[in-house]
Amino acid sequence: MILRSLTLLRFRNHRKLVIAPSLGANELVGPNGAGKTNVLEAIDFLSLGRSWRTSDMGDVVQEGESEAYVRGEVEEGGITRRIEVSFRGGGRAVLLDGKPLARLSDLRGAFSAVRFTPEDVSLFRGSPSGRRAFLDEALSRLSGDYLLAYGRFRHLLEERNRALKGGRWTPLLETLTERLVVEEERVEALRGRFLERLEGAFGTLSAALLGEGREARVRLKRFLEPGEDFARRALALHLSQKERDLVLGSTQAGPQRDDLLVTLDGREAASYASQGESRALALALRLAPALIPKGAGRPVVLLDDVFGELDQERRRRLVAILPRLGQSFITGTTAHVAGARRFHIGKKDSEE
Ligand SMILES: Nc1ncnc2c1ncn2[C@@H]1O[C@H](COP(=O)(O)OP(=O)(O)O)[C@@H](O)[C@H]1O
Ligand SMILES: [Mg+2]
Repeated sequence: MILRSLTLLRFRNHRKLVIAPSLGANELVGPNGAGKTNVLEAIDFLSLGRSWRTSDMGDVVQEGESEAYVRGEVEEGGITRRIEVSFRGGGRAVLLDGKPLARLSDLRGAFSAVRFTPEDVSLFRGSPSGRRAFLDEALSRLSGDYLLAYGRFRHLLEERNRALKGGRWTPLLETLTERLVVEEERVEALRGRFLERLEGAFGTLSAALLGEGREARVRLKRFLEPGEDFARRALALHLSQKERDLVLGSTQAGPQRDDLLVTLDGREAASYASQGESRALALALRLAPALIPKGAGRPVVLLDDVFGELDQERRRRLVAILPRLGQSFITGTTAHVAGARRFHIGKKDSEE
C-alpha cells in the first residue's frame, strides 16, 4: 500500500499541511512539539478510522476551530482511492472515494499501516493488555474474518458478563456460555493461523535488528490448548468456573486472557533481554505484520522517534532493512536515513 498524498486541515497544530511522500522512506524532521507525531496520527486515522492517542475525536481539532479534516490518496494494486476523515462535534465521518463508509472495517482493504511509537518500548515488560491490543489490532488489519469474529466474541462476552452480575446462574447464562465457546473457538483458530505467519516475519526482523546468532521467537500463551474438542473443553472450563465468575461478576477464562510470549535465546524476553534488546524485539514485533504478504497489500510503516531509542549499531541495522518494509514514515529531531524524502515540520504551519 502506498500513500500518494496527504492533506491535513486544522488537524491538531497543523492549520494546513500537504505532503507528497516518496514510495520508500520519508522522514519528518523537526524540533520537539513541531507536530511530527500528529502527522503519523493522521496517517493512522486513514487506516483504522481511529487514533492510538485518543478516543476523544474533539482532541484532534485545532484549538479554537470546530472542524478538522484529513485526506489521503492511497494506492493499492494500481488503483488509487481517496480516503477522507472529517472531525466535527466530537465525532468523525469517513468517506471512501466520496462515499460514506458503512463500516470502518471497509477501510481495511484500501489502506493500512503499522506503527512503532516510544510507548512500545514497554511492550514486553508491561501488562498483557498491551500485547493483546497489538495482537487484535494487527489481526483486525489483516483479516476481515478476524475483525468480525472478534467483534462477535466481544459482544457475547459483554452480554455474559452483564448476566453474571445478576449473581446467580440462569438458563440465559447457560445459553450465552454455549454460544460464547463457538466464538472463542473461531477467535483462537484465527489467532493460531496468524501467529504462524507472524513468527516467520518476526524471526526475520529480529535477526536483522539483533544480528544473526540470536534466536527470538514469539508464541501465543493461550487460555486453553487448541485442538480436538476445543468447544467442549472450553464449555467444561467455563462451567467449572461458574461460581467464581458469578462472585467476580465477569468471565475469568477466555481469549481475553491470552498473552503473547516473546523469548530470546530460549528465555523469556521480559526478564532476560537487555533494555536495548527489548527495544529491538518490540520493534520487530510491531513491524512484523508489515512483512506478512497478503493479497490486499502490505501496510505502510510508521516509526515515531525510533532512532532516538536505538543505539548506533541498531540504527544502522534498522536503516538497512527499511527498503524491505516498503513505504515508511519516520519522525525525528534530526535526519537519519540517507536517500529518504525529507519533510521539515515547523513549529508553525508547515511550508511543504
Ligand atoms: N487540538 C490541537 N490544537 C492545536 N495544537 C495541538 C492540538 N493537539 C496537540 N497540539 C499541539 O501539538 C504539539 C505536539 O505535536 P506532536 O506531533 O506530538 O509533536 P512532535 O513533533 O514532538 O511529535 C503540541 O505543541 C501540542 O500543543
Ligand atoms: Mg512526537
